[in-house]
Amino acid sequence: MDSLYVKVKRKVAEEARIGLLKKGAFDNGRRVIAEGDNILFPITKRTPVRGGVIVKRKAPALASRPRSLAEALSGVLSEGELALLPSGFDVVGDIAILELPAGLLKKKKVIGNTLLKTFSNLKVAALKTAPVSTEYRVRGVEVVAGEKRTFTIHTEYGCRYRLDVSKDYFSPRLGTERMRVASQVKAGERVLVMFAGVGPYAVLIAKQRSPKEVVAIELNPDAARFMAENASLNKARILSIQGDVRDATPLLGKFDRIVMPLPKDACDFLDVALPALSRNGIVHFYDFAGSPDESARKVASLCKKLGYRIKVLDAVACGSYSPQLGRVCVDLKILGKNK
Ligand SMILES: C[S@@+](CC[C@H](N)C(=O)[O-])C[C@H]1O[C@@H](n2cnc3c(N)ncnc32)[C@H](O)[C@@H]1O
Repeated sequence: MDSLYVKVKRKVAEEARIGLLKKGAFDNGRRVIAEGDNILFPITKRTPVRGGVIVKRKAPALASRPRSLAEALSGVLSEGELALLPSGFDVVGDIAILELPAGLLKKKKVIGNTLLKTFSNLKVAALKTAPVSTEYRVRGVEVVAGEKRTFTIHTEYGCRYRLDVSKDYFSPRLGTERMRVASQVKAGERVLVMFAGVGPYAVLIAKQRSPKEVVAIELNPDAARFMAENASLNKARILSIQGDVRDATPLLGKFDRIVMPLPKDACDFLDVALPALSRNGIVHFYDFAGSPDESARKVASLCKKLGYRIKVLDAVACGSYSPQLGRVCVDLKILGKNK
């Protein structure tokens, strides 16, 4: 169907455009057309413009930005390849981190470049090349498009974190869980964050609550250095320690709350955490398990074996690890030691 346009000479086009906008007659849903020395502005109603004539043309709709990576890649990848695309990707700062199946690895560059063109806030496209497995819980990454760097600054709940995605653990998916834990901290508490990474729990707690003190321990020297920098960057008062939780914790006195965000191995450190808690102190214990209840039963039994009476306050699912296992946080109150 033909649509209405105002046709004007190029030299008066800007004046005409402003006039149409002022009269509310400019149609934002269609593209402006150039015809030789003339410009055709789409209009919503017959509106006279000085030096212009009203004409009718067939008009293509204004091209809209693709809403997803799959939409942006249609026509670039085959139907079979599109079906293999992951449904999403992680964004850490301005770095997109994608996980591609083997069948799409040969297309990694075109996928990375398209991703950066589609989402203009992203400057680096990186690929997960290995799962999180080392002691520092760092994953392998390969930059496939954009700027050649793995350093970025991530913002979460108004706090900024400097980090290197190839050297430090950081999951943007855990922001809500970090806030869930932080929001339980009461004024005047002494808080220990074990396995602290680049400091997202410690900084958030120090910045948004009013603790007496936040102490944070991290083994990875690179992450620990960023944690100290992130404390300054966010004007958060943290005692950041680079070292092993097992060695450092017994030297630090008693805490009202201990966060243990090392789901794969936190149970191996309960023997260090429990003696460091004040009476009625609280532990946020992370675990990979089939269900929150399964994890709560496991931690309750471990605490009993270690000679402690506890009360499970909550057990929440906070992410997935594998099709069978989820990430769970069990919040526990330590009531005391068995006689
Ligand atoms: C799953 S990451 C969590 C990091 C951070 N809490 C976060 O949410 O981003 C676990 C961290 O524990 C650190 N880590 C592992 N074993 C440790 C130990 N024995 N003592 C101190 N830190 C340790 C790793 O280097 C890693 O940065």
